[in-house]
Amino acid sequence: MKITIKKTISGLALAMTLVSGVEAADVEVMHWWTAGGEAKALGELKQTLAKQGVGWKDTPVAGGGGSNAMTVLRARVLSGKSPTAVQMLGFDIQDWGEQGVVANLNDVAKQEGWDKVVPQALQKFSKYEGKWIAVPVNVHSTNWVWGNKAVLDKVGVSIPKNWNDLINAMKKVKAAGYVALAHGGQAWQDATVFDGVVLATGGVDFYRKALIELDPKALSSATMKQVFDRMAQLRGFVDKNYPGRDWNLASAMVINGKAAFQMMGDWAKGEFISAGKKPGKDFVCFRTPGSQGAVTFNADQFAMFQVGKERKAAQQQMAKAILSPEFQISFNQVKGSAPARTDIATERFDNCGKKAIADLKQAVNNNSLVGSLAHGHAVPAAIKTAFYDVITAHFNGAFSSEEAVKALVSSVKNTY
Ligand code: BGC
Repeated sequence: MKITIKKTISGLALAMTLVSGVEAADVEVMHWWTAGGEAKALGELKQTLAKQGVGWKDTPVAGGGGSNAMTVLRARVLSGKSPTAVQMLGFDIQDWGEQGVVANLNDVAKQEGWDKVVPQALQKFSKYEGKWIAVPVNVHSTNWVWGNKAVLDKVGVSIPKNWNDLINAMKKVKAAGYVALAHGGQAWQDATVFDGVVLATGGVDFYRKALIELDPKALSSATMKQVFDRMAQLRGFVDKNYPGRDWNLASAMVINGKAAFQMMGDWAKGEFISAGKKPGKDFVCFRTPGSQGAVTFNADQFAMFQVGKERKAAQQQMAKAILSPEFQISFNQVKGSAPARTDIATERFDNCGKKAIADLKQAVNNNSLVGSLAHGHAVPAAIKTAFYDVITAHFNGAFSSEEAVKALVSSVKNTY
């Protein structure tokens, strides 16, 4: 699904029609933050900008991982009506950079000293050919598990340290009549679980070889088969209504004590917090057992599109506000993520937030930080989609683990 509209765009998009309902002092923001915790976090940005006299036109397109938003965006850009700013992940940012339709933020970046405070792993995606084109707002990661504390205490389960512990804990919970694993059967959610399982099963080197370097040996290995076996194990712990369920409804099952665990990125914490739940007291957060010490990250960024002269000031103000230290703290506490700057004090974060920040630092120091496959930080969209298809087909029982390995090898080869 590489973007191949470059030639079509030139001339068209650059006419830059003013989108109806968007005043010069407004920003039009496309995003997929439609769940309760996400909307609250977005509210922090709206309010910050409102205080500075910048208005907001909201353009939500639901769907984790951003595939739906990217489809809508293509149509908008083609019709010459680019939004001011678009929530975007990893390789998608680079794809849009290549199209020559994004803004150059180097002046703001220089003025604000972004080069010195934004982690290198993020800058790699924020810049295209040396130009800042996107502003990182957070660092999420996907190798997390969320647990309902009361359910775990009642059943007598402690925090699992390795894969077998996790499976035994799930067996116990299931036997006690709870849903062991709250899950929504959507391709991006299946792939989010897969991120953590690959890391827990093969370690960081295997993750890199298989999901980033696309090494055929790693992709066809016995370790990859074991990854799919573990995915099949997990399938045995979801309830029968899992197909199509939104991720935040799965979080709600854990929040309400219907289910014990959810394997999901730390945006899930935003849902717990938004429901008034406290980490350590009502819920627990821990890394996918077996993946401790390593982090599969995804950073949300706002890619800025070329807009007419009259809208530039508001756009630059938004860019500046996103990376301001105070906003980084207020936003990321609510969103569940770590800040996108390395110089932020951690006191105001809760224990899961502190752990996210500390784990990230440790992973950078140990060379154990890898981009999330599910959320566009391991490979470009076309290859990510090839993975999604196989992971989902297998999770839904269409493939055995052996068949999934074979399908993965051949579809990655065909796409690459
Ligand atoms: C984004 C998160 C978002 C999640 C679910 C991910 O792709 O990075 O910010 O909360 O999708 O919508």
